[in-house]
This record gives sequence, structure tokens and C-alpha cells, in this order.
Amino acid sequence: MKIGILTGGGDCPGLNAVIRAIVRKGIFHYGDEFVGFLEGWRGVLEDMKRPLDLEAVKGILPQGGTILRTSRTNPAKKDNGLERCLETLRKHGIDALIALGGDDTQSVSLKLFERGVKVIAVPKTIDNDLSGTDLCFGFDTAVSIATEAIDRVHTTAEAHNRVIVVEVMGRDSGWIAIYSGVAGGADVILIPEQPFDIDEVADTLKRRHDRGRYFSIVVVAEGAKLANAANEMERRKKDEFCHVRLGGIGATLAAELESRTGFETRAVVLGHTQRGGSPTPFDRMLATRYGIGAIDLVHAGKFGCMVSLKGNDIVSVPIADAIARTRCVPQELINVAASLHETHFTPVGKG
Ligand code: F6P
Repeated sequence: MKIGILTGGGDCPGLNAVIRAIVRKGIFHYGDEFVGFLEGWRGVLEDMKRPLDLEAVKGILPQGGTILRTSRTNPAKKDNGLERCLETLRKHGIDALIALGGDDTQSVSLKLFERGVKVIAVPKTIDNDLSGTDLCFGFDTAVSIATEAIDRVHTTAEAHNRVIVVEVMGRDSGWIAIYSGVAGGADVILIPEQPFDIDEVADTLKRRHDRGRYFSIVVVAEGAKLANAANEMERRKKDEFCHVRLGGIGATLAAELESRTGFETRAVVLGHTQRGGSPTPFDRMLATRYGIGAIDLVHAGKFGCMVSLKGNDIVSVPIADAIARTRCVPQELINVAASLHETHFTPVGKG
């Protein structure tokens, strides 16, 4: 078969490992031929492509980023965008298309599937919040990077008697915040699932310092919401999938906490460091399993499906189900975080 591959949305450690696994199994076991569409859906829309053979995937397993590059292009927002995609696929005789991406990318996969394209989806987001799978590759790498950063910030906060606010990624869910926050021993963890009251955060820190501690670490997901401040986001510029550009809550929080507590406070934004660099061995393995799962789904003819991890098994789910809702941090993990502290601080103890 002649199979197209693309990577869309924010990049993620492990994308190259997925591409490599698809191409190797496809060529060695199925006799497939591959075309790489560049920069996500932009490549299909504007007919930008490159060959994908064994030579092209040589040595890419440990590499971050994606050899196909990526973008947040949404063909559904362009004039005749979906039709132009269909035309490109027809022109190159593409029998099937494998799209690596999160809910935005896969919403386009679904639209094209409904128009007759034989699509298979591979879940990708370091935010780990796709409902159709138990785990996304790249998440483990992001958590490792964030945890290491929190460990480093710990020693300098302690040396200077400071509060340090660490802002991590997580648009709609706090998976990275809760994992890295618990693993790094943070004193407060703030996640999008539970809007927080800044006075309660300040009181929590004051109580901790009253107990004789002289520094604190606060981990905040970039999408965490201050109660009563929802409108600020409305003013921000939106991308083609209607998402605002996040970032900055850490600095706001640090300033507010310093003025409420009198404790010297600093903010650190980890940002894209969490998405860059080499995937962990765990993510390389998971990404490879997803890649093998995807090419097997193509040859099983299970189009319109996304390869998924359920428990420890690679299975498939309809794309429509996989993107139906955001997979939030479960209450059990929130309780774990809350249990480690003297008081049940509202954001991690309620709900
Ligand atoms: O969707 C994954 C994500 O990492 C979000 O956590 C974050 O808000 C966004 O991507 C950042 O994207 P960009 O690369 O466009 O700044």
C-alpha cells in the first residue's frame, strides 16, 4: 500500500520513534511505500511532502521533535481546505493516511474519514489528556524534565528562604503538574480541573512557614484558573483551533503570593523545555508500540480508528470516541497529592 504519514499540533518526544516503527514494519513486513506530509495538515493542504524510506528513518529513534515538522494548520478553516486535502491524497495515490496528533489534529482526521479517506490516528500530546487512551507517549519525558527542574528549584529555594512557583504545561488538564508535583515534593499543586482561590494558596504557605519551614515550592499548570479571572483569556489571540496562547500564570501567582505573604517569591516557566529533547526509554517503547499498532490497524482495515493503550494492551478505539472529551486528572490522584499535606488545600482536596 502507499501510505501517508503526518505529525500535527505541538511536537512531542517520541514522534520520530512512532514514524520509525511504522516505516520499518510497513516496509519489512507488508511491502508498503510511504510518503511523509510536512508540517501537519499544511503538508496535505499545500502538497508539501518528502519520501519516507528506511534511509529517512535511520537514527531517529532517540531524536526529539519530528522529522516531518509540524504546525497547527486546520484545513477546515481554509477555503475548500478539506477538498484540497482530498485532492492531494488522490493526486499521489495515497491508499491510507496515518495522522499523529492530539484532539485538534484528530478532529481533522475524523472529517476526512467521513469524506472517505482511510485514516488511522495515533494519540499524541504531552498533556496526556486524550480520552481514548490511558497514556500518551511524550508525557513520561515531560514529567521527567519537570521533576528534575522541581528538584533543582528545591535546593535554590531552600538556600534563599524563597517561595518558587514552577509553571508547567497542561492546557485543560493537570497531568504534568500532578505527576511532577508529587514526584518533586511540591507543597502546593494547582491544576485546571479545580479553579483556585489565591488567598487560600497564600494561607497554605503561611501555615507551612508557621510550622518552621522557610521555603516552599508551588507547581502550577499553565491552564490553571484563578477564581474570578476567567475573562482575561478571552482577550488573548487564538490559533486555528480556537485555543488561546497560554503562559504567564506563574508570574502572576508569584507576585500575588509575595504581596499576600511577604515571602520572597520567584517564578520559573518550564514551557517548551518539557517538549524538547530525547524521549525517555519508556516513551521510546510506548511510541514504538503505537507505531506498530498503527500500521497493523491499516492492514486490518480498521480505518477511522485510533491506536490506544488500555491497561498494558495496545487496542483501537473510534476516533470520534477518542476526541469526545478531555481526560481529566482523576480524583484518586488529586487525593494522593492532598493526603501529603497537613490541611486539605482546596484545589487538591476538594471535588
Ligand atoms: O497541547 C500541548 C501543549 O504543550 C499545551 O500544554 C500548551 O498550551 C501548548 O501545547 C503550547 O503550544 P505552542 O507550541 O503553540 O506554544
